[in-house]
Amino acid sequence: MQALLRRLAAGEPLSRIFGKRAFWGLEFSLSADTLDPRPETETVVEGVLRRIPDRSTALRLLDLGTGTGCLLLALLSDLPAATGVGVDITEGAVQTAMQNADLLGFSDRARFLVGDWATALSQSFDIIVANPPYIRSDAIALLPPEVACYDPRRALDGGEDGLQSFREVAEAVPARLSSRGILAVEIGAGQAAAATAIISENGLIVDSLEHDLAGIARCVIARPALSGSRRQKKVGMGRRPD
Ligand SMILES: C[S@@+](CC[C@H](N)C(=O)[O-])C[C@H]1O[C@@H](n2cnc3c(N)ncnc32)[C@H](O)[C@@H]1O
Repeated sequence: MQALLRRLAAGEPLSRIFGKRAFWGLEFSLSADTLDPRPETETVVEGVLRRIPDRSTALRLLDLGTGTGCLLLALLSDLPAATGVGVDITEGAVQTAMQNADLLGFSDRARFLVGDWATALSQSFDIIVANPPYIRSDAIALLPPEVACYDPRRALDGGEDGLQSFREVAEAVPARLSSRGILAVEIGAGQAAAATAIISENGLIVDSLEHDLAGIARCVIARPALSGSRRQKKVGMGRRPD
């Protein structure tokens, strides 16, 4: 008990002490290699689900920078016929995500790979989600200790301007997104204009911004540039093979 109190007093979050975090009503194990999932990331899940008229469709999902696997596994929990792939550059994160898939009963529908964004993949996906690192390198030391000292740097560091991972993800996604697919990518406070510009420069059309409970633009939803008027906006409507 005293050891626990000492760790709490030193600023260690309870989720790190117990190695668990609830996300989308599911319990996820954490490890030193994974971000502690944040409630605002549920905005990505909500934004995606709102665009799926028939949740029984056999959609193919891709989660780039999967960490604990929280985005992919939360979506699989609401999409019973979907399957998905989660990718992370950190082997320890991939192991944790696989354990979570197993414990939550999704290992038959979820596959996890160590990789640099989508470089190891050749197939296309109906839904691509990502919560890339988006903190400016020089701002990491200024974050509250419960973040700076316990979340892995690789999960936080978005480079000099905080946008480097968005550039890499936005560059990788068009080749992997099916013609009627959607990209949903989490952004940091104040990054909406820059992230939208980066996504547009890579040939995707930005459909909307999703706001979190604090009213902050938290997720950009985009789709491939198609023959606009003929496109049906909802994922999985009249799907054709890619
Ligand atoms: C902000 S965390 C998000 C984790 C999880 N998706 C979530 O929302 O809690 C970003 C994740 O991207 C991973 N990552 C960083 N660079 C990567 C890269 N080049 N390729 C794949 N994953 C990467 C990190 O290891 C980390 O797990």
